[in-house]
Amino acid sequence: MVLLSGGSRGIGAAAAAALLDAGACVCLTYRQDAAGAAHREQAAAAAGAGDRLTTVRADVRDAAAAKEAVRHTLERFGTLDALVNNAGVLVQGHLQFATTADYDLVMDTNVRGPYLLMRAAIPRLPKGGRIVNIASVVGIDPIPDASLYCASKAALIALTRSVAQEVAPDILVNAIAPGPIRTAMTARGYGDDLLTSDAIAQGTWQRRWAGPQEVAPAVVYLCSPASGYVTGAVLRVDGGRT
Ligand SMILES: NC(=O)c1ccc[n+]([C@@H]2O[C@H](COP(=O)([O-])OP(=O)(O)OC[C@H]3O[C@@H](n4cnc5c(N)ncnc54)[C@H](OP(=O)(O)O)[C@@H]3O)[C@@H](O)[C@H]2O)c1
Repeated sequence: MVLLSGGSRGIGAAAAAALLDAGACVCLTYRQDAAGAAHREQAAAAAGAGDRLTTVRADVRDAAAAKEAVRHTLERFGTLDALVNNAGVLVQGHLQFATTADYDLVMDTNVRGPYLLMRAAIPRLPKGGRIVNIASVVGIDPIPDASLYCASKAALIALTRSVAQEVAPDILVNAIAPGPIRTAMTARGYGDDLLTSDAIAQGTWQRRWAGPQEVAPAVVYLCSPASGYVTGAVLRVDGGRT
């Protein structure tokens, strides 16, 4: 039984599909992308897994919504075994032009959101429960013109490694640091042209962008019994970017 934030599209949607394929029950959240969430429900039903997917509108920045997402998962599936903090936003541009509203949006979504969901989920997770936080390689090796985003992902990695110690040995807490992944976020952030250009691809040893489905197996692994001795890790899925 997995609660996954921001599952209406992109990496979250791919992770939800892979978790369903692995036999999990998934509650996915979204903020406003109701069409994306409905699409995920249709895809799950078509794959014969409709009864193992539920969706809930929940803005991760809202403490009450975080509690409600946990409550909804428990009501629907009975237990909660894993939390995947995937919801995130990217704001690009030079620090000089970033507004305080940009700062609040990025930090509230990418750091406050995981904090609120972890706080709500931890008391309900069993021994052996899992938390997986989707960070980024730029939280390890920051780039220019996305400083707020880089800082938020560095904070998420620190949050991951600190909380991993607080809840050990009962709960295992890890982060995934994806490199450049083709999603709506990067299409918006970098523009469609850059997705096919060499600039970012050449920054990886694989010389290419990846698809969201290439991050999803790492989420499944960190939620599975196979990762029972892995905690506080930051698993890079970045084609050799860092
Ligand atoms: N794409 C990359 O290259 C890349 C690389 C490294 C890390 N990541 C991280 O991977 C995660 C997923 O990114 P993505 O590329 O798949 O982005 P995406 O396609 O834009 O999807 C983001 C998801 O998060 C949800 N979301 C955003 N704000 C939310 C909020 N306040 N409350 C609840 N849900 C919210 C969105 O739903 P709504 O539209 O309904 O808000 C959507 O489902 C993010 O944490 C991102 O930082 C991405």
